[in-house]
Amino acid sequence: MKPRNSRAYCCTSKLYGIPKYLLWALLGLAVIVLVVPIAVMFGRKNPSTPKGTVLVPLYVYPSPGAWDPLLTAITNHPRLNFTVVVNPASGPGVEPRPDSNYTREIPQLNKHANVRTVGYVSTSYTNRNISLALRDIETYSAWSDHSPIPGLGMQGIFLDETPSQYQPASALFLDTLAESVTSQTGFGTDPLIIHNPGTIPDSRYMKSANLTVVFEGAYSAYQMHGFHKTMTAFQDSSNAGRDALACIVHSLPLTVDESTLVKDLRSSCGSVFITGLSGDYYASFWTGWLGFTNDMAL
Ligand SMILES: *[C@@H]1O[C@H](CO)[C@@H](O)[C@H](O)[C@H]1NC(C)=O
Ligand SMILES: *[C@@H]1O[C@H](CO)[C@@H](O)[C@H](O)[C@H]1NC(C)=O
Ligand SMILES: *[C@@H]1O[C@H](CO)[C@@H](O)[C@H](O)[C@H]1NC(C)=O
Ligand SMILES: *[C@@H]1O[C@H](CO)[C@@H](O)[C@H](O)[C@H]1NC(C)=O
Repeated sequence: MKPRNSRAYCCTSKLYGIPKYLLWALLGLAVIVLVVPIAVMFGRKNPSTPKGTVLVPLYVYPSPGAWDPLLTAITNHPRLNFTVVVNPASGPGVEPRPDSNYTREIPQLNKHANVRTVGYVSTSYTNRNISLALRDIETYSAWSDHSPIPGLGMQGIFLDETPSQYQPASALFLDTLAESVTSQTGFGTDPLIIHNPGTIPDSRYMKSANLTVVFEGAYSAYQMHGFHKTMTAFQDSSNAGRDALACIVHSLPLTVDESTLVKDLRSSCGSVFITGLSGDYYASFWTGWLGFTNDMAL
């Protein structure tokens, strides 16, 4: 609506003869040109490196002290999250509970707010007898339910060796396991389900998991495969966010600076694990473990 008294309108909306809207526009421009870039420069130390979670395949037997490197990293970095895959016997084992070394050490992990423990379940590319996989999931759930040992519970399940090529029967297998995990009461209110195809899978599988390991392999394989191009194409086609993806790199040569690799992996994968071990990759901690977690915390 136009003001009826055009003269009054004219005089309150001008300053020294310049229309006020023009002054406001100039001020706005000055803020955008000068203030915003300065705020961005000072507010974000590592604009190119988003935050990440450490994914630990903890296939280390908990002899007294054997998990100390993990506990050290966890307490050193209370703001860095750790997802820890607990694996007593390529699964929970045949007993209702793991042995006393496990029942002593698992609660030491679970008492930290930045730790989420998940139980290892083998699927053999969905060729495993599904009753056995379901039984493993129930066993882990029972570690918490009706358990005389406080703090032993898992908060999710890691399904190893899931397929990458789509098969309806495999999708049904994985959906059934996911339903079992969410219907058990022993995994807390928001269980985490991880798939490990170890390579980029058909994205239809990803809806029955929270996190998918899209690379598990040697550093040399990671270098050869045009990883970034592949990942970018996959993320575009599948709409998969960083948070849904994990990368595991082993056999890192000691001559390679892992901090560069950490940044590189974190640009595509929200969860990362690196080890310099080139055999029995997950059965012990490598010499660069604490350095790796320091880099993840930056
Ligand atoms: C606990 O670990 C120690 C050291 O490896 C081992 O000697 C002991 O037999 C283990 N305890 C059980 C119950 O397996
Ligand atoms: C760490 O985990 C907590 C609890 O799940 C979550 O709220 C927080 O956003 C996570 N932090 C990062 C940096 O991922
Ligand atoms: C799968 O395992 C269950 C439980 O042990 C068993 O009863 C069943 O016969 C097995 N099925 C096959 C096809 O091996
Ligand atoms: C896992 O995914 C389900 C379904 O998308 C979601 O409801 C749940 O919050 C997720 N849990 C975690 C721990 O990310």
